[in-house]
Amino acid sequence: MKALVCTHPGQLTYNDIAAPKLKAGHTIIRIKRIGICGTDLHAFEGTQPYFSYPRILGHELAAEVVSTDSDTHQPGDLVTLMPYINCGTCIACRSGKGNCCTNMQVIGVHVDGGMAELLSVPTRLLLPANGLSVDELALVEPLAIGAHGIRRAGVEQGEFVLVIGAGPIGLGTMEFARIAGGQVIALDINQQRLDFCKDKLKVEYTINALTDDVTERLKDITNGDMPTVVIDATGSLKAINNAFQYMAHGARFVLIGLQKGDISFNHPEFHKREATLMSSRNATQQDFDQVITSMKNKLVDPANYITHTVKFDKVADNFASWLKPETGVIKAMIELD
Ligand SMILES: NC(=O)c1ccc[n+]([C@@H]2O[C@H](COP(=O)([O-])OP(=O)(O)OC[C@H]3O[C@@H](n4cnc5c(N)ncnc54)[C@H](O)[C@@H]3O)[C@@H](O)[C@H]2O)c1
Ligand SMILES: [Zn+2]
Ligand SMILES: [Zn+2]
Repeated sequence: MKALVCTHPGQLTYNDIAAPKLKAGHTIIRIKRIGICGTDLHAFEGTQPYFSYPRILGHELAAEVVSTDSDTHQPGDLVTLMPYINCGTCIACRSGKGNCCTNMQVIGVHVDGGMAELLSVPTRLLLPANGLSVDELALVEPLAIGAHGIRRAGVEQGEFVLVIGAGPIGLGTMEFARIAGGQVIALDINQQRLDFCKDKLKVEYTINALTDDVTERLKDITNGDMPTVVIDATGSLKAINNAFQYMAHGARFVLIGLQKGDISFNHPEFHKREATLMSSRNATQQDFDQVITSMKNKLVDPANYITHTVKFDKVADNFASWLKPETGVIKAMIELD
């Protein structure tokens, strides 16, 4: 079967590889859609930590069941995948937090993923389509990241939720903040993306950190209180360090975005707020289920996200262009028949 292999940074090659054989506890799926995310782009660039080559990328998947040894799925069923292979025995897994398993293996990151015709996956990680389209199914995983961050924050009705970073992850976070009843404020340095928030996601408040006085705007919007929930979805150290001052007293600050450096903040400022700082890693089945239900109920429109589509045999030619913000890419989607 055909697979697209990232042989080393900057190089994607179509190879013929052996088709997977059915093993106990596994299901063989035929890939229908593959969403491209920042992780794939960084792996291609060679800037993704903990990454080894060669690797078959692709973890945002919609697929059809080909063969399975379980009776929970039938051949021909459409499915999506929770791409996080957790160990099931570590402290996180034992506490129902398999999303932050100490031995996490992400499909398409630590082990080969979905840029191939067929893929063998643990059956327990598959979720039924529930009437969703293949495009919708491939968007479930990236949206679940935001849903998880909002669940971590415990957003309540009417709260001001500042989401910093309006990339695919931040946009999904904004949607689930709204679904939780929050009043969303989007902060970015890219006006095109802020316009997207206003036009497509109907986010009421947008702030451009390059041209606006962020603190003044936040005070205006929140009647002087400042946001009680602040979420980073930039992965920018500068944005994260700045964001501590945007928190209301008693606020929660959730880091969905990830960067490599040390975060530093003023302790007395943090103390006087009695603030809470949390990280948010991957997503749980509860988050995946919430995304699927929200899509079914038309609370999230996948058409807003998919800005680029390409056939599987054209991916190698187009991949590098998705690294360029000027292409206006939010979500590039690979189509297989
Ligand atoms: N929690 C998880 O498990 C998880 C999963 C996937 C991705 N992520 C992380 O989420 C982050 C966002 O991912 P993405 O794919 O949406 O990235 P992206 O690069 O597409 O979007 C980031 C956005 O942040 C904006 N930004 C950058 N610096 C800024 C600043 N100083 N102030 C305001 N805005 C700024 C950019 O303009 C951009 O729109 C990344 O750090 C990624 O690693 C986390
Ligand atoms: Zn992803
Ligand atoms: Zn574990």
